[in-house]
Amino acid sequence: MLRLGVNIDHVATIRNARGTPWPDPLRAALLAQSAGADGITAHLREDRRHIGDADIEALIEALTLPLNLEMAATAEMQAIALRHRPHAVCIVPERREERTTEGGLDVAGNQAMLADFIAPLREAGCRVSLFIGHQPAQIEAAVRIGAAVVELHTGAYCDLDTEGRHAERDAELDALREGARLAHSLGLEVHAGHGLTYDTVGPIAAIPELAELNIGHFLISESVFLGLDGAIREMRARMDAARAA
Ligand code: PXP
Repeated sequence: MLRLGVNIDHVATIRNARGTPWPDPLRAALLAQSAGADGITAHLREDRRHIGDADIEALIEALTLPLNLEMAATAEMQAIALRHRPHAVCIVPERREERTTEGGLDVAGNQAMLADFIAPLREAGCRVSLFIGHQPAQIEAAVRIGAAVVELHTGAYCDLDTEGRHAERDAELDALREGARLAHSLGLEVHAGHGLTYDTVGPIAAIPELAELNIGHFLISESVFLGLDGAIREMRARMDAARAA
């Protein structure tokens, strides 16, 4: 079965716009669980623009679903992850000026640093995931440094779809399929995410090697209209339908 990880970052974005305690990301996480999420994802950014340290503490304390903590490869984040020992840690590239995580991690170009960075996380029992593009060099480097999981970046595929550039979108989709196949054949668990919507999720969910999708911004956006429960159930149904087909 294809798992759905619900990313709750943008519940915190709305909260932080006003500096109120609401809407509460933990409440969203608990609701996501009852709507059929298999895990909760939260990105603790260096600038704390959405999720904050107290959110991570509350999630660790109250959540019964696995928590996937997304973070940059910095000493501060490593210390936080080692303190909380979430189920999974997904290492993402992070630049302060970006609006969201714009590209994949350059694992091939930073092998030694990343191998050292993830070793203590693995020893602490966290499943380490690397957020990468579909390039074979990145996938092979992830294997060499001992990652358990790679998450393939679907952002370019989704952007090309939104822009109506269908030939390029289809080529990107083929590359994601190839990447998933290669990663799986090398023994990695393969996840995917970024930018997924009701329109773009089907072809990704249909890739048989994928074990998990992580989806956030669109679900929180759609919850304005459908409620979070309805938005998640609709996404789950589309994922399941794509898999069944
Ligand atoms: N996966 C990773 C590694 C991410 O960094 C993000 C965004 O934080 C997502 C998935 C979810 O992306 P979106 O919010 O666009 O669905």
